[in-house]
Amino acid sequence: MIEGKRIILGITGGIAAYKAAILASALTKRKAVVTVVMTRGAMQFITPLTLQSLTRQPVYEDVFDERNPARITHIELADEADLVVVAPATADAIARFAHGIGDDMLTTLLLATRAPVVIAPAMNVHMYENVIVQHNMNKLIEAGYHIAEPGVGPLACGYTGKGRLMEPEDLVEFIDMMCTDKILAGEHVLVTAGPTRERIDPVRYIANDSTGTMGYALAQMAWRMGAKVTLISGPVDKEPLMGVEVIYVTSATEMYDAVMHHVPQASIVLKAAAVADYHPTEASDSKLKKQGSDPLTLTLVQNKDILKAIKEQRTTTQFIVGFAAETHHADYYARKKLVEKGLDLLVLNNVLEPGAGFGTTTNHVSLYYPNQVVETLPLAPKLDVAHDILLAVAREVKRKRELAHLVVSEEDA
Ligand code: CTP
Repeated sequence: MIEGKRIILGITGGIAAYKAAILASALTKRKAVVTVVMTRGAMQFITPLTLQSLTRQPVYEDVFDERNPARITHIELADEADLVVVAPATADAIARFAHGIGDDMLTTLLLATRAPVVIAPAMNVHMYENVIVQHNMNKLIEAGYHIAEPGVGPLACGYTGKGRLMEPEDLVEFIDMMCTDKILAGEHVLVTAGPTRERIDPVRYIANDSTGTMGYALAQMAWRMGAKVTLISGPVDKEPLMGVEVIYVTSATEMYDAVMHHVPQASIVLKAAAVADYHPTEASDSKLKKQGSDPLTLTLVQNKDILKAIKEQRTTTQFIVGFAAETHHADYYARKKLVEKGLDLLVLNNVLEPGAGFGTTTNHVSLYYPNQVVETLPLAPKLDVAHDILLAVAREVKRKRELAHLVVSEEDA
C-alpha cells in the first residue's frame, strides 16, 4: 500500500522530468509523503517550486546546503525512506549510480540508503541500447535495484523505440507493487476471469453479465504480492495488467483447454470466471433467419466443468479456489460446490446484493473453508477484496503445507 509510505523521488536531467511532476502528484494524492531530490540537470527542465507545490514537502538539490547543523540531510532522508524512485533516470545518472559516485544530493542519498530503489530509465533508443548503458543497468540489477522498464514509442529526440519513461500511472502501479508485502513470492497463481461466450451464429452468442473485474483484481494483487501470475481471460473490456501473462479465450471450451494446459504449473488456482454452463449443439455458419412467427428452439449441451476436471488431476500441494455467484439459497450452494468441486476455499457472492457481484466496483464476499468455517469480508472495492482473499489464501496455503510436512515427518518417524 502506498498510503503513508515515505518515498524519495529522484529526478534527473531528461525531457521526461516533467512527467515526474505527474508522478509526484499521483503519489501525494495516494497519501505518500513524497520528498523530491533533483539533480542540477533536472532543474533545467522543471523547477523545484513545481514539485514543492505538488508534494507540499521541501525539495533538495545541493548536498552542501545544510541549513540545520543538527542534521545531515542526505543521511537522514536515506534512513527515513521506505522507497527511493529515480524517474526519469538518464544514462549519465545510471552510470554514476552504477559506479558508486557520490557527488550530489541524489547520488550520496542512493549510496546511503538501505531502502529498495526503483530506477526508471528514459533516454534516446540508441543510448538505451548502448552496451555501456546496458552494462551499467546490469550492475544496478546485480546490486538489487529494480528497473521500471522504459516503454516503446515516440521519443522526444524524434526517434521511435525503447526509451520512453514508463508512464506515470504505470509507475504508480510498479510502486504499489514495491510497497506490497511479498506473501505470495515463489507461487505461480493461475486466475480465470470474465464471462465466456457461446456462439449461436456469426452475430449472436450466449454470455453473462460478468465484467472480469474481480478476476483481474485478483491477478493484479497476486502480482503485487510477488507471485508469477497467469490470467486466462474471457472477453472483457480491460487493459492488460502489468507483470501478468494474459491468455485470451472466448468460449468455455477454449477456457477449459487453456486452464488444463496451464494448471500443472500452477501452485494456486483462482477460478473467478463466470463460465457458461451450456453451449449450442452447433454454431450456425451463417446468420439465423426468422422462420415466420414460429418460436426458435436452441438445443444446448453442457460445457465441461473445469473445476471438476482439475479435481481429477490436481496434486495434493496445489491450492484450488472456486467462486460462486448465487441469487438464492447461497449458503447451501456454496457448501455444496465446495465439496463437489473438491475445493480448498470457496468465495461466495450474492449477485443480487447491492454493491456485490457482476459489473460493480465493489464486492461483498464470504469465504467457505472445508472445516465448515465461514468468514464474511467487509463490502469494499474489488482490489481490496482481492487483497483480503489473497491474505486468506496465503495463510491457508502455508497451513496446508505445514500440515502435509507434519504428516510426511510422522510417516518417516
Ligand atoms: N466453473 C467451472 N466450469 C464450469 C462452470 C463453472 O470451472 N463449466 C467454476 C466457476 O469458475 C466457479 C465455480 O465453478 O469457480 C462455480 O461456478 P458457478 O457458475 O457459480 O456454478 P456452477 O458449477 O456452474 O453451478 P450452477 O450454474 O448450477 O450454479
